[in-house]
Amino acid sequence: MCGIIGVASIELRDSALAKITLEALKNLEYRGYDSVGMASMDSSHLEVRKCTGNVEKFERSRNPLSMRGNIFLGHTRWATHGEPSDVNAHPHLDCSGEIAVIHNGTILNFIELKEDLLSKGHKFSSETDTEVIAHLIEHYRKVGMDNFSAFKHAMYDIQGDHAVLAIIKGDNRIFFSKRNSPLVIGLGDGMNLISSDVWSLIHVTNKTIPIGDDELGYISADSFFAEKFSGERINLMSRLVIQQFDQSATSLQGYESFMIKEIRESWGAVKDTISGLMEDSANLGKAVKALDKARRILIVAAGTSYHAGLIFATRLLRAGKTVIPIIASEHDTVKSGQDDVVLVISQSGETMDSLLALKDYKAQGSFIISLTNTLGNSISSYSNVSLHTRAGPEIGVAATKTFTSQVGALLLMSSLLLGENLDYLKEAENVVSSSFSKSIGYAEKIGIEISRKQSVYYLSKGIGVPMAMEGALKIKEIAYIHSEAYPAGESKHGPIALVERDFPVIFINTGEHVEELRNNLKEMESRKARAYVISAGVEIKSDTEVKEILVNVSDQRLAPLALAPPLQLIAYYAAKERGTNPDRPRNLAKTVTVR
Ligand code: F6R
Repeated sequence: MCGIIGVASIELRDSALAKITLEALKNLEYRGYDSVGMASMDSSHLEVRKCTGNVEKFERSRNPLSMRGNIFLGHTRWATHGEPSDVNAHPHLDCSGEIAVIHNGTILNFIELKEDLLSKGHKFSSETDTEVIAHLIEHYRKVGMDNFSAFKHAMYDIQGDHAVLAIIKGDNRIFFSKRNSPLVIGLGDGMNLISSDVWSLIHVTNKTIPIGDDELGYISADSFFAEKFSGERINLMSRLVIQQFDQSATSLQGYESFMIKEIRESWGAVKDTISGLMEDSANLGKAVKALDKARRILIVAAGTSYHAGLIFATRLLRAGKTVIPIIASEHDTVKSGQDDVVLVISQSGETMDSLLALKDYKAQGSFIISLTNTLGNSISSYSNVSLHTRAGPEIGVAATKTFTSQVGALLLMSSLLLGENLDYLKEAENVVSSSFSKSIGYAEKIGIEISRKQSVYYLSKGIGVPMAMEGALKIKEIAYIHSEAYPAGESKHGPIALVERDFPVIFINTGEHVEELRNNLKEMESRKARAYVISAGVEIKSDTEVKEILVNVSDQRLAPLALAPPLQLIAYYAAKERGTNPDRPRNLAKTVTVR
């Protein structure tokens, strides 16, 4: 996964435009932070600067504000082909140095293409798949094509997923192409932009146009054009999306990390999500009606979104519905039919695994409902009904407020489906905020203690199991501590073999099956485990020394919402104690647009 941005302006140029590009790159950095680069161009020159490391290092070491031009490209990389290195960083140039290309995706046939180009005398500087694009464009220009035709033919040649931007010296357009990887045009004042996501543009514009798959075209400072790979022209303005953004969401506002800021924003996000969905009653009604009539409900998601989906699944399964939760990358194991409804959950709306599963299930005739956190994303655009959480931009790579919002949204949807009274949801915001205040001190203590451990178990039962899975994922991701989640009753069937004196075990108590959990707790304590309990609404009340925190819930159905803050805070404080950056965990990217 990578982040790409292109900007073309009428009036702004040089450092002013470099600054806008850099700002966008900072907002795109969550997509990858192995290396960074920019290209700038005007009618007489084209220049590229790039290096390994993050945007901050790039800014310090390559002085991009001194770059000249009224057209800029920017790229932040998450390496796929070729290790992170200065030379493998994007943009990539052709042999003449007149064509610069940036790319997000994977070119499956790049070896064949490269061999062919080598045989034609092209010289390559990097190990990346991307560089073939610059040489292909060069090749087609050499054989006499105009710039757009040369770009198009290069795009027809490459196989695999891509979002590509290219500039050619002397041409005031930024050429683009998309298949599966995200791409969106932004309409600014006296400038046009094109980027991997909407959030990276909000410092310039709130007017965006999503690009669809197998579409290509170009933007200039005052125009834009797109057509399908088949040649059919596209009316881009008919897709215009105007959204209201809270600018403060993308800056730290005095907090030491986005993660802690975003955990603190989670109760507002839950409130806005629930009220926003209720206001969107036509869509919500359509979704609930479809889910109600479905023969089977297939829930498709990855990572944290999958855990939110499991909470929804557990509630519906208990009510006798037929529900199959599916990890998006494993969706091949379950076929769907015309009377099935597929619910795709994805905060980014761009996760490749989820998008591909959606497309397969759609092709199999199923009705698709999506729950995403942005407007105009790819997953929404392929859905029959698209619903949205209202968490606002989430910059920290680990999902926090988007997860809590998904849980809020899914509680609402499941209650509607089960015909429950919705009054209990009025307390959702309060339950999250009071849980945060009540648990922060305790979570810090546990986080610090666990930061010295190699491994930790998260155990629970029933609807708490997905919460245990989420707690385990968070601490793994940001504190790099090995963790596993199990149904507590399952722990005696193997995992308990690892437990010895002071092995940390976190019990998550949703207030149901308390007796059984207490038994499991005792089993762990008999092996001298270091047990902690986080309880929502009902205490475990062990007769031992176990540390237990009780967060309040006005209704047990709100327990998952109440448990989210302490679990996220434990991971946050463990990471802080270990000195790792919770916002930028190694090897991860926020939007995973590779399969
Ligand atoms: C974990 C995390 C990831 C994502 C997963 C799916 O903190 O953020 O596990 O949940 O990559 O992403 P979305 O929800 O964008 O589809």
